[in-house]
Amino acid sequence: MKKYLQITITTLVLFGCEEKNETQSTWQIIERDILTPSCANCHIEGTAIMKQSGLDLSEGKAYDAMVGVQPKNTAAQNDGLFIVSNAGGMKGLGQSFLWEKINAHDREHYLADHPEYGQMMPPGENFLTDGQLKYVRAWIEAGAPESGVVAEETILADSNRYEPPPFTPLEPPEKGFQLHLGPFEVDSNFEREFFQYTDTKQTNDVFVNRVEIEMRKGSHHFILYSFVPGTSSDQLPNYEEARELRLKSGGLNFSTLRSMQHHQFFAGTQWPRLDYRLPPGVALRLPAEFGLDQNTHYVNRTDSVMTGEVYSNIHTVDESEVNHIAELFSMTNRDLTLPPKKVTTVKRTFRVDETTLFGQVFSHAHEKMTEFIVEIDGGPRDGEVIYWTDDWEHPPILNYDPPITLSAGEGLKLIATYDNPTDLTVRFGFASTDEMMILFGWYYK
Ligand code: HEC
Repeated sequence: MKKYLQITITTLVLFGCEEKNETQSTWQIIERDILTPSCANCHIEGTAIMKQSGLDLSEGKAYDAMVGVQPKNTAAQNDGLFIVSNAGGMKGLGQSFLWEKINAHDREHYLADHPEYGQMMPPGENFLTDGQLKYVRAWIEAGAPESGVVAEETILADSNRYEPPPFTPLEPPEKGFQLHLGPFEVDSNFEREFFQYTDTKQTNDVFVNRVEIEMRKGSHHFILYSFVPGTSSDQLPNYEEARELRLKSGGLNFSTLRSMQHHQFFAGTQWPRLDYRLPPGVALRLPAEFGLDQNTHYVNRTDSVMTGEVYSNIHTVDESEVNHIAELFSMTNRDLTLPPKKVTTVKRTFRVDETTLFGQVFSHAHEKMTEFIVEIDGGPRDGEVIYWTDDWEHPPILNYDPPITLSAGEGLKLIATYDNPTDLTVRFGFASTDEMMILFGWYYK
């Protein structure tokens, strides 16, 4: 057999000064170049993610954890899949849950046909490169061996990445309602962020168990806000009026800031496309007395005017189908002081005062954030990492099924690290040059 470009590493054995040549197997390269950098931060012993997914992808453990092993995901199990099948060829590929979870090019099929397979990996839109995908595919097709070279390493050089399809308006939901914002213009070299309060025209509270959002390119985030109970009508904004957050002069619009004080986060995303379903029997209650305040933030760093547009589908179920009402939360640390030319880590713990089950969390910060970790604080799972990201722009929205249960007095510890290369102290604020430290999500009691 012809041998292709094998990587040879030379180890200088200290005692005896003897040189030894070692060929890296395809599996070793998958571990070193793909799993360790892109997956093991989450899939590692001691994290809630590892408990939930059952999958430890740390070096030395990943092979036995995947090859010939049944997935923990019950839908995939019922479909007869292995995490990685060693049957080889098309059959091996077709039976490998791992391939379904990472093959970004088949994403539309995955999302449409396998909603119960969980998220694609890694979560968010930071897909593996085409080279990494082809390399893993070649390895699975070769029967997923632990040793030996079964794929050309040059394949890895292909750094293209799957791009999600262009913006397409959503069809309105069968049960529920749709919101549509825009199209609107975003000036060149401008960050346009505005709020628009919209009448949802509901006469009774509705129970929401799925939210779809679709946005035109260039969005930094999109959030739907309701209002905290007790907000009086004179504290609510006018319907269908765009309230700019940032003025062309660079300053902030204070009347808009004031209107944000009574907000209650409802749903949001930092990806161009979201399709989020709550577990069966769990739904978010949306109070009929308020509309939804749509908040869009587009960043246009080009020299031409850009167009923004957002569709949101709010899918509802009958109250009789709801066993648990999910409550939305935001844990916000406004106490941020990030000195110039320094890397700073900020910690803050938020405790619960009664048993609370968390079903979803995701972080929100701006561009100086380099790492955001959430740990359980107190109780039998003290110190367990439930959330990790190094991506301020597209942080993964993590869902926990079963939810993470905390008892009274236990809490979630937010640990955020920021790198401030500027000459100025950076504090909490709304501009992208300010910083934020927020954990969003929902829970039920
Ligand atoms: C941000 C954290 C995070 C990262 C990074 C991550 N995963 Fe996951 N993974 C999860 C969570 C949470 C689950 C369980 C829920 C789900 O499947 O969506 C999961 C589930 C899985 C499963 C299903 C396991 C089973 O038996 O059901 C596979 C396979 C998997 N991940 C592979 C990967 C691979 C490969 C990578 C890197 C390319 C990766 N993950 C990166 C969080 C992560």
